[in-house]
Amino acid sequence: MGKGRLENLNALITGGSRGIGLAIARRFAEEGANLFICGRNRESLEKCENELRQAGHKAVIHVADVSDPGSVQEMVEHVLKEFKTVDILVNNAGIQIVRSFLDYTLEEFDQVIKTNLYGVFLVTRSVLPGMIEGKKGKIVNIASTAGKWGSRNQSAYNASKHAVVGLTRCLGLEVAPFNITVNAICPGAVEGTDMMEPFLEQNSKYYGIPKENLLGVLLSQSPMRRLIRPAEVADLAVYLASDESAGMTCQSIALCTGYTMV
Ligand SMILES: NC(=O)c1ccc[n+]([C@@H]2O[C@H](COP(=O)([O-])OP(=O)(O)OC[C@H]3O[C@@H](n4cnc5c(N)ncnc54)[C@H](OP(=O)(O)O)[C@@H]3O)[C@@H](O)[C@H]2O)c1
Repeated sequence: MGKGRLENLNALITGGSRGIGLAIARRFAEEGANLFICGRNRESLEKCENELRQAGHKAVIHVADVSDPGSVQEMVEHVLKEFKTVDILVNNAGIQIVRSFLDYTLEEFDQVIKTNLYGVFLVTRSVLPGMIEGKKGKIVNIASTAGKWGSRNQSAYNASKHAVVGLTRCLGLEVAPFNITVNAICPGAVEGTDMMEPFLEQNSKYYGIPKENLLGVLLSQSPMRRLIRPAEVADLAVYLASDESAGMTCQSIALCTGYTMV
């Protein structure tokens, strides 16, 4: 077998048990990376571990909540015990709560910000000193097109993703002298993810139109008339995690069938 593009690199993927994170884990494994995957639910993690094992790969799994500083600290101790270094960090764990602005409770707003923004801050802060010491590292943040524009009924989510785009730019500048790149992927709506169902469900209530019609509206906004596939996000993540993207940092790349160009 040929040498993979991520051969023997140690990758930590947050929220790698399902959806986009799992697609990234599959592609990284195919490219030869050693995987460490976290999520809150052990069952989903074990399912993901089994799937990877059946495909001839292995992954270390760890139950962690990225919004909880203590839980992140334990996780990073575990990953460093297993791998000694983290070469690639994919900050993918994220949640969405669809609400009109006045319908958000403080707890809901807090939960979105703490997972999507503080999660990135906490995990990155714990992993970064090792990357700086080793003078190499790749950080890939999974933001969203919601980090580039406004959307109705998801102000907490868009605020968190705009913040991740801002953090990507600022951190990338600070760590560039250490040969560490920080980039974000901004996918549009991604098919087959658990996030899509509640998104359509809740929005159909707000818009007063059936869920099926809402999907049609979403598709009509796409120049390609389709959603993004998880594997497409994973392919871009491989590029951003590999040496091929050595000269690229601070970027937030929209992957959205062309419906935004910023
Ligand atoms: N789906 C889309 O259309 C879309 C579009 C643009 C961007 N994104 C972004 O892509 C990322 C992945 O989304 P997805 O659609 O794949 O979502 P998903 O299918 O709901 O998967 C989310 C993953 O994150 C984990 N997770 C959630 N909260 C966590 C926490 N506090 N600590 C640790 N792990 C946590 C989940 O596992 P547990 O539940 O077991 O913790 C799961 O593995 C998110 O950042 C999302 O905002 C998604």
